[in-house]
Amino acid sequence: MADTTNNIKHVASPLARQTLQDADLTRPVAGGRPIRLLPWLQVVKIGGRSIMDRGRDAILPIVDEIRKLLPEHRLLILTGAGIRARHLYSVGLDLGLPVGSLAPLAASEAGQNGHMLASLLAPEGVSYVEHPTLNSQLAIHLSAARAVVGSAFPPYHHHEFPTSRIPHHRADTGAFLLADALGAAGLTIVEDVDGVYTTDPHGPAGDQAQFLRETSAVELAKLPGTLPVDRALLEVMATARHLERVQVVNGLVPGRLTAALRGEHVGTIITTGARPVA
Ligand SMILES: Nc1ncnc2c1ncn2[C@@H]1O[C@H](COP(=O)(O)OP(=O)(O)OP(=O)(O)O)[C@@H](O)[C@H]1O
Ligand SMILES: [Mg+2]
Repeated sequence: MADTTNNIKHVASPLARQTLQDADLTRPVAGGRPIRLLPWLQVVKIGGRSIMDRGRDAILPIVDEIRKLLPEHRLLILTGAGIRARHLYSVGLDLGLPVGSLAPLAASEAGQNGHMLASLLAPEGVSYVEHPTLNSQLAIHLSAARAVVGSAFPPYHHHEFPTSRIPHHRADTGAFLLADALGAAGLTIVEDVDGVYTTDPHGPAGDQAQFLRETSAVELAKLPGTLPVDRALLEVMATARHLERVQVVNGLVPGRLTAALRGEHVGTIITTGARPVA
């Protein structure tokens, strides 16, 4: 009887008796590449400001393009927050709200954009799905429909790092973390510019902006000034497990998203820190 109790208490585990802080000890157990949960999935992040805020002129052509892509790809479409979140940040900051309170409010704006996009794709069986369902039942949703829409915002909420008063991890970061965790086939970020430039092509020095056809997260991190993607995206790309690249494309040009999902180089390819499979 005493022996049985001992066996139950002493669960054999290679990590049971050592600190998780020692990389030399954890690496043999935790250093391998994780499995790809949904290796056939294509993740598409639709810009809140660049696409959704433009209304029907920008959204309807993209919806048409997505509709035509459905027989070819199974998609997780994630929406960004856009201008309503910017307004919310300014009101919330004026009220003195902490970043952990602003993050879920901005996330709810990204969710609103997702609801609108999903409504337009509803005849194709596409629905908006909340994060807890994405976490546990994405596979079943994607076996019932060719695409699912969700919010691109990561659910850090009160856990958002207080490095800035504006949430550091926003829609691009959330889309990347999700795509990499799922082991998706790819992530395409849809903007209103052809890709990433050396400086904002719509900014005061726009005439000097040079297009970057191919770059890396490491190179972009060195670029001063603004980017069309969250800076935190570059940080999470450095430790990517599966996604070796993402492509930023212009969603205002018909056919660019389709071409990108077919593996064509039609925007800026940003390489990550993920190792190619040996
Ligand atoms: N280095 C850069 N290269 C390309 N575009 C840039 C650069 N810096 C700034 N931009 C600007 O970023 C704009 C896109 O804005 P932003 O990325 O905030 O929109 P979004 O991705 O739709 O928003 P959200 O993150 O809410 O989804 C482009 O229209 C462009 O003017
Ligand atoms: Mg952007």
